[in-house]
Amino acid sequence: MNKATERILEKPSFSRDDLIALLEAEGEAKKKLFTLSQSVKAENVGKKVYFRGLIEYSNACSKNCFYCGIRSANRRYQRYRMTDQEVMEAADFAFESHYGSIVIQAGEQSGKMYVNKIASLLRNIHQRTGGKLHVTLSLGEQTEETYRRWFEAGAHRYLLRIEESDPVLYEKLHPANQRHSYQKRLEALHLLRKTGYQVGTGVMIGLPFQTTAHLANDLLFFRDLDIDMAGMGPYIEHQDTPLYQYRDQLLPLKTRFDLSLKMVALLRIMMKDINIAATTAMQTIDPQGREKALLAGANVIMPNITPVKYREDYLLYENKPCLDEEAAECRTCLEARISMAGDTVAYGEWGDSAHYAKR
Ligand code: 5AD
Ligand code: SF4
Ligand code: FES
Repeated sequence: MNKATERILEKPSFSRDDLIALLEAEGEAKKKLFTLSQSVKAENVGKKVYFRGLIEYSNACSKNCFYCGIRSANRRYQRYRMTDQEVMEAADFAFESHYGSIVIQAGEQSGKMYVNKIASLLRNIHQRTGGKLHVTLSLGEQTEETYRRWFEAGAHRYLLRIEESDPVLYEKLHPANQRHSYQKRLEALHLLRKTGYQVGTGVMIGLPFQTTAHLANDLLFFRDLDIDMAGMGPYIEHQDTPLYQYRDQLLPLKTRFDLSLKMVALLRIMMKDINIAATTAMQTIDPQGREKALLAGANVIMPNITPVKYREDYLLYENKPCLDEEAAECRTCLEARISMAGDTVAYGEWGDSAHYAKR
């Protein structure tokens, strides 16, 4: 059985059943999977890690995803939005630290004022860094017009996780209304591509009702969509969310973590030159989670540069790390971790996905 699984690794491409077998691999087959993903990484993207300073701009959100701690129905958190000055200070920190780029992330918000505000932040950042600091947005589903305005104002990349590529499971994880439509999510990903962004997506791993067949399909979904970037991490329950009631039916944390590593490794083998993030959620389960993700094939890390006073209010899931560490502390901490994983930080490089460049 194990030998048969090992032989799958020699195939030029994986079928759905191959992926399921590899996601369930243990022992020697699992070891070989990671050896292969490591060498694919070294050959195709090198042993470099790109830093993206993460700005958690606002926790206001109009959505009510069943898994997320900052869903609008949760009254526990004080809703905040960073001031323009705070955003500029964070951007300056990233720029002065030679991070090639930043990510501006927030709950999903819309409206003319909001769209203008983001556009003006983008123009300001562009101006003060002479266009040298690249900006990724992670601001949810927007209209095509909004995507275009932000692109023209200087954003280059956009992250929008599909969260789960199976429409039936997607529906179980979201309220049944137009605001949470799977179809719209999918359309948004196509609009982003059409607008010219480098497009990133991803899923949560170890969700209630999710099987290895779902995860195999998620990987095929990424391949078919021909994505440029991926961010995936374990699902971690949050007590103020509807999905919390299923906590006893979840895979153990360790298994969710292991599956996440395998997802990273498999995606690296399938899509050799894309950017894959070692996500913060991985570190929530294992103190060395992000280093392990790098070893498995990831090549991007998003050090948190949000002002510390807001961090407690941006808890998408429980036990999120770095709540008290200032941006500079995370930088030092991550440098040490990355060198332990045998990689080096590519300071001063944008780190665009090589995949996007080739398209
Ligand atoms: N566990 C792990 N990840 C989560 N996210 C939201 N809630 C959770 C959770 N409970 C992820 C989603 C979202 C990203 C910003 O955070 O995938 O796209
Ligand atoms: Fe809002 Fe995103 Fe959380 Fe959904 S996952 S509730 S859209 S912040
Ligand atoms: Fe923030 Fe280690 S990354 S303290």
